[in-house]
Amino acid sequence: MTKLLVVYHSRSGNTARMAEAVAEGAKSGGADVAIKKVEEATLEDLTGADGIVFGAPTYFGTLSGEMKSFIDRSVRIRGKLENKVGATFTSSGSLSGGNETTLISMIEGMLIHGMVIVGDPIETGGHYGAVAVGMPDAQALIGCRKLGERVAKLAKIIGSS
Ligand SMILES: Cc1cc2nc3c(=O)[nH]c(=O)nc-3n(C[C@H](O)[C@H](O)[C@H](O)COP(=O)(O)O)c2cc1C
Repeated sequence: MTKLLVVYHSRSGNTARMAEAVAEGAKSGGADVAIKKVEEATLEDLTGADGIVFGAPTYFGTLSGEMKSFIDRSVRIRGKLENKVGATFTSSGSLSGGNETTLISMIEGMLIHGMVIVGDPIETGGHYGAVAVGMPDAQALIGCRKLGERVAKLAKIIGSS
C-alpha cells in the first residue's frame, strides 16, 4: 500500500487543522497515512514514505524555523528521497503575508532531494500547494483534502511503475 507522510509545524493549531484535512484526503486517495508533528518526525519517517507533505505556518514570509530545521537535518539522507512525491501547505496571518513564498521555500528543499512535486491546475487550494489565512475555512479544507488525495494517487502511480 502507498505510504503517505504528513509532517507539520503548528504553534496555534491552524496548520495542524490543515494537516488533518490533507491526511483525510490522502486516505480517500487510497494511501496508508501517518501524520506527525515536526517535533516528533524522524528522518526514517521520510525515507519510509512514498509521498511526503510538509506544512508550516508562514513566519516572516517563509516557513517557520522549526520546519526549516527539520528540512536542514534531512541533508543526512540526501539521495534517499529521490522520486518520492511531495507537496506543501501553509497557514499565514494575512492574504498576502508570504504564503506562496513559504510554499516555494519548502518545495525548494523537496526539489533538492529529487522529489516530484504536485501542483494544482484547477485551483482547489492554490497553484503551489494549499493555503489558508488563519484557521482554514471550508474552502481551504477542500483544497487540503484535494491536495492529499492527489499526492496519494500520484505516489501510487509512481510507486507501481
Ligand atoms: C513569529 C511569527 C511570524 C509571523 N509572520 C507572519 C508573516 O510574515 N506573514 C503572515 O501572513 N503571518 C505571519 N504570522 C502569522 C501566522 O502565520 C499565522 O498566525 C498562522 O495561522 C499560524 O499558524 P499556526 O496556528 O499553525 O501556528 C506570524 C506569526 C508568528 C508567530
